[in-house]
Amino acid sequence: MDVAERLLAVMDQKDHWAYAALTRPGLTKDQLLVHFQHEYLVYVRDFPVLLGNVLGQTPPLADVRAALAANIYEEQTGGLSQSSAHPELFLCMMEGLGFERRLFDEGACVLHPSAQSYRALLRDIAAAPPWQAACAVLTIFVEGSKNERAELAGTFVRAQGDAAVMHHPLVVHYGCPPAAMKLTRAHGAVEGGHRADAWRIVLGNVPGSDEPLAGAVTQACQRALAAWHRYRDGVAERMGLRIAA
Ligand SMILES: [Fe+2]
Repeated sequence: MDVAERLLAVMDQKDHWAYAALTRPGLTKDQLLVHFQHEYLVYVRDFPVLLGNVLGQTPPLADVRAALAANIYEEQTGGLSQSSAHPELFLCMMEGLGFERRLFDEGACVLHPSAQSYRALLRDIAAAPPWQAACAVLTIFVEGSKNERAELAGTFVRAQGDAAVMHHPLVVHYGCPPAAMKLTRAHGAVEGGHRADAWRIVLGNVPGSDEPLAGAVTQACQRALAAWHRYRDGVAERMGLRIAA
């Protein structure tokens, strides 16, 4: 099986039963807070730094370094989408839901042990060779979704602009003002390009003939997937969600 298919098989599994609860009404404010505190502290806040660690271990391949640098620039400043740093936009969205910023300070909540493990794994992988594995985990696995296969095939098109904001569950079901959803706008504006870059970089630098490298890249993504499932299970447990619900 080629590298693309092995990575797509991982992405097909980036789904969790508790996600459905986040797309419909019925969660309490406390349940939403638990979910978003975990997301912020586990990878949203430090995502630009994790990408920086990937860039820091790349060999002198100008196109790879430029694509990663552009991604970091957007994530830490919002410069490409004319917005703001994505972690900052996330906190604005939280304020739109009525959550104060201090609730997202390190130590404001006790992360579920599975969340601590997933965060530690991402930090380790981002800084460890081979750089292609770090790049795949951060830019394909963390930034990507279960829609990756359809998005690459052109059969799934990510919602953008007003359409993305006005149909967002936080706006529709949880009273978040559309003006607080700049993160969704920024992602709609730039994420398509980042998805294409991510796949181009990884597939262009993992020759099918180099099985040890292809195996290392695939295995890193599989480890991330397993840790992510445990993380999502842990957050669902903290939210008091049951699989039957
Ligand atoms: Fe982002």
